[in-house]
Amino acid sequence: MTDPILSAAAPPADGPAVDGPNRRLYIETVGCQMNVLDSELVVGALRKRGFEVTSDPEAADTLLFNTCSVREKAEQKIYSSLGRLKYRKRQRPGTVIGVLGCMAQKDKDLVFRKMPHVDLVVGTGQLAEVPDLIDAARENALRGSKSRLTALSLSRKGGARKEIEASFESYDPLREPTMRPTPYQAFVRVMIGCDKFCTYCVVPSTRGPEQSRAPSDIKKEVEVLAGQGVKEITLLGQTVNSYKHSGEGKTYRLSDLLYLIHGTPGIERIKFVTGYPKDLGNDLLEAIRDLKKCYHYLHVPLQSGCDDVLKVMKRGYTVAEYRDMMHRVWETVPGCSVSSDFIVGHPGETEESFEKSVDSVREFRFKNSFIFKYSPRPGTKAYERLADDIPDEVKRRRNNALLAVQNEVGEEENARKIGEQVSVLVEGPSVRQKKADQSSEDVGPAPGEAIQLTGRTRCDRIVVFDGNPRLIGSTTEVHVDDCTGTTLLGSIVTREVTHLGGLPVLV
Ligand code: SAH
Ligand code: SF4
Ligand code: F3S
Repeated sequence: MTDPILSAAAPPADGPAVDGPNRRLYIETVGCQMNVLDSELVVGALRKRGFEVTSDPEAADTLLFNTCSVREKAEQKIYSSLGRLKYRKRQRPGTVIGVLGCMAQKDKDLVFRKMPHVDLVVGTGQLAEVPDLIDAARENALRGSKSRLTALSLSRKGGARKEIEASFESYDPLREPTMRPTPYQAFVRVMIGCDKFCTYCVVPSTRGPEQSRAPSDIKKEVEVLAGQGVKEITLLGQTVNSYKHSGEGKTYRLSDLLYLIHGTPGIERIKFVTGYPKDLGNDLLEAIRDLKKCYHYLHVPLQSGCDDVLKVMKRGYTVAEYRDMMHRVWETVPGCSVSSDFIVGHPGETEESFEKSVDSVREFRFKNSFIFKYSPRPGTKAYERLADDIPDEVKRRRNNALLAVQNEVGEEENARKIGEQVSVLVEGPSVRQKKADQSSEDVGPAPGEAIQLTGRTRCDRIVVFDGNPRLIGSTTEVHVDDCTGTTLLGSIVTREVTHLGGLPVLV
């Protein structure tokens, strides 16, 4: 899906290891936000079975890998982690090793062939079965018999869609707060799968047919999350603005869904990723303009600035149509930021077509772009029909060149914010602060001492500033003093809020 290939760190450990089967779980996640959410749900289900989470693979008797197949690199990363466990499995046969998610869905036989010490392979549509499969695999392992447990099938035929939908509904409400990006931010799945079949992309086969969840289920989930202290909801879908659900007396689009959840007490901000350019309707733009909790931010990947390449990719739009969409965005939601994804070195991308991608970044002023080198994926149309004809060093050069222009544009756009006051939902300590705390020998900042914090503006720009850790989880006003291509640097706007015995108290 969206901000692709992030590696989610394992959550904090629960305590020391014990010998023998110990119901200690180690989970490693690569891929998009949908995978991060899946890992949260799997851990939620396993905690209900008495599992505790550890960040130390050595301390765990159950090791799960939630995988991604979107580019070859993501798969290699998982294969090397799995390879390192071969000896471990021989030494401690009661260990259960499971491969979940997109690579499991696509390559179950290959995973078993390459990694015979793996016990279970569970595709994206059957993650609800993970707890039972782990128990069965452990029993087999302790009896000395080999298990090859798989739970797969994401067919587009007949009643399969309904079955897949039901499996998600039994599983999505299970949540595990410690696996969230922060205690204040949570993902909510509104759509499953993708039917767009862009020629280069594995997602339609790893995530199955496109289906939208019922609005009432989504609303309930948002209410539960708000009750747990979540302030920001990110609605997830591969093409989230293609959301459409008929039933419950009407047809709901994404804009209707935003109206439905907007009133949830406790929720302060709502965003959605990833958008599909062709399906971006005015109703959605008007909803984000009119609903004050909605981010003024859209992630609608252009992928290439050249019509010939877009056609080969089967993206379903031209650059001129994308331009029309951008004009509608700018007119309806002034100041709305837009980010993109690009693939460089796609089959057929000439130097001239690449330059058109560079021009498009300059023209559309993206807040940021995720840029990827084309990676041929077995099973896709591009893999079957098109030669991967651009040498890797050319892909690398184009990647760096496009990134440099994107950073320039990002810095110019960020610089326009200098001098402004922005509302920031404070997420936590900045990356620099976290590193300083980890390397520091003492116990960290004293209570009340200012630390470097990070948060986001309503148009999804990252802001870093010094402030009291108590501000984490609240919305605060920050004056923008400076910027880089990716970050705004600011200082807290102090306000007089209360008067104690006539003395103003600053926050
Ligand atoms: N549903 C989202 C994207 C999901 S995949 C959308 O349509 O925009 C995330 C990103 O990975 C894509 O936007 C694309 O830029 C990139 N990607 C997908 N397949 C790829 C491939 N074979 N090689 C390189 N990048 C790829
Ligand atoms: Fe892949 Fe295209 Fe679907 Fe996005 S819209 S997930 S790029 S097939
Ligand atoms: Fe996401 Fe990767 Fe699967 S990008 S949908 S985890 S192939």
